[in-house]
Amino acid sequence: MMRIERLGFTYSKNTVDECRVLEDISFHIQEGEFIGLIGSSGSGKTTLIKHLNGLLKADSGAVYFQGQNIYDKGYVLSKLRKEVGLVFQYPEHQLFGRTVLADVCFGPQNLGMSKEEAEKSARDCLELVGINESYYHTSPFELSGGQKRCVAIAGILAMQPKILVMDEPAAGLDPETKHMIFDLVEEIRKKRNIAIVLVSHHMEDVAYYANKVLVLHQGRLVLTGEPEEVFTKTEFLREIGMDVPQITSVTEKLMKEGFPMVNPAITVKEAEERILKVFRERGGAE
Ligand SMILES: Nc1ncnc2c1ncn2[C@@H]1O[C@H](COP(=O)(O)OP(=O)(O)OP(=O)(O)O)[C@@H](O)[C@H]1O
Ligand SMILES: [Mg+2]
Repeated sequence: MMRIERLGFTYSKNTVDECRVLEDISFHIQEGEFIGLIGSSGSGKTTLIKHLNGLLKADSGAVYFQGQNIYDKGYVLSKLRKEVGLVFQYPEHQLFGRTVLADVCFGPQNLGMSKEEAEKSARDCLELVGINESYYHTSPFELSGGQKRCVAIAGILAMQPKILVMDEPAAGLDPETKHMIFDLVEEIRKKRNIAIVLVSHHMEDVAYYANKVLVLHQGRLVLTGEPEEVFTKTEFLREIGMDVPQITSVTEKLMKEGFPMVNPAITVKEAEERILKVFRERGGAE
């Protein structure tokens, strides 16, 4: 669906503050994929995702959406912005509508949907994120933190994007609300077959939800693969200043103590299954 080819980007080009931030980035996004984008602070994650809907323009390389280069002359960027929804950190800061429903309707109407279409889409998406109809005519500012974020996400979803890009969507939320939001996003991905790009500092979340992980380091993609491939490269990740999921460190220590595992586990569920299997086999042998 989207292909990023040898993308490079410089902030403040041709000024004394010129700063090369992205270099030679290539990857693709397929329908229904859940991609985790990780990297230490300042590695370029936010800068990179701003290229996915044309908010920033690369100074080298290309971005193809459904086979078309978005930098081609005459390409209509507003069309791309409908297809690629960007949820920034603390999206609730961008809520402004007088009512919840008006807020969620704003994006789709702005993209040219009729009032009726926009309202239908807004209602569907509010239902999808679990906001009850009794809230539709209240001010979004009266909602709880978690609900506000859900409304903000609904506002992006109401534009019916094919790719949903989220920059730290769970920042500042308690663990319970965080899991609620991630489970919701996962459900929406399955229901609508949209692709998700999740930027996160929480390796546990990425290991649990993503099908593919991209690792950025100093503006370059240094590692790409399935979560198992990426998170078991513990030494490399630590070398570039990244964390690994806690359970990966724990199972790695167990292996060092002689516990029979071929490689560390990346989720608690996987660790539990594999450890129990070893105990069962031992029990059986004894
Ligand atoms: N508007 C800007 N002008 C100039 N430099 C910038 C600008 N925004 C970011 N940078 C620089 O670009 C680099 C990448 O920043 P970016 O915000 O993309 O990183 P990040 O991986 O999202 O970090 P974080 O995990 O802290 O959110 C950093 O060195 C940052 O200082
Ligand atoms: Mg960032």
